[in-house]
Amino acid sequence: MRKSKKSKKSKSWVIKQHRDQFYKRSKTLGYRSRSAFKLIELNKKFNFINKNTNFLDIGSCPGGWSQVASQIIDIGKMVSVDIKKMNEIKNVKFINADFLTNETKDKISLLFANRIDVIVSDMAANTTGNKNLDCIRTNMLCADVINFSTEFLKKEGVLVAKLFMGEDFIEVKKLAKKKFKRVDFFKPDSSRDESKETYIHCKSLKTL
Ligand SMILES: C[S@@+](CC[C@H](N)C(=O)[O-])C[C@H]1O[C@@H](n2cnc3c(N)ncnc32)[C@H](O)[C@@H]1O
Repeated sequence: MRKSKKSKKSKSWVIKQHRDQFYKRSKTLGYRSRSAFKLIELNKKFNFINKNTNFLDIGSCPGGWSQVASQIIDIGKMVSVDIKKMNEIKNVKFINADFLTNETKDKISLLFANRIDVIVSDMAANTTGNKNLDCIRTNMLCADVINFSTEFLKKEGVLVAKLFMGEDFIEVKKLAKKKFKRVDFFKPDSSRDESKETYIHCKSLKTL
């Protein structure tokens, strides 16, 4: 009984996905994910990627955001990290590891000679079926990226990260406001209406 309910649900998700305009456009344009449009919209709004940008993409798999950034970045260095394997993208150095470990953070810092211009994170915790718990776990990932950014981002650098509008949203917002001069939120049109996700855009560290 449980199983058939679940398979009905995933069947309707597949139908919905195929009708989705962003899914169709991602297939036409050769993006690996419909998420690619979220970064396109975020960059249109805040304009933080250019040809010189040194760029770190955390939670990069399957690679939509890295593809979008690699179409703009020419001279800057690009590093992507994911716990899952990601197929190669030209000019992108991929680290296949858990971002949360110190070992991975050390590997990242060794790849950038200087502090980083832009850090983006689309990391999402694996879903458990408990929406509140999923929300808290993804927001913890966001908080970890904010703390990491204070050590590795340039003073005028930009951080963009996914978070969920849940009970601990305010805590993450407080943390970001403590560390950055400018903090904004933006939900791209390509983010599904029913999703509680939004993106935090932080600019200029308060202290270095
Ligand atoms: C929504 S997907 C990212 C999609 C990507 N932005 C794109 O455009 O293709 C979230 C990713 O976060 C990754 N992730 C979650 N926790 C992670 C962790 N601790 N370290 C590294 N990657 C993680 C997942 O493996 C997953 O691939």
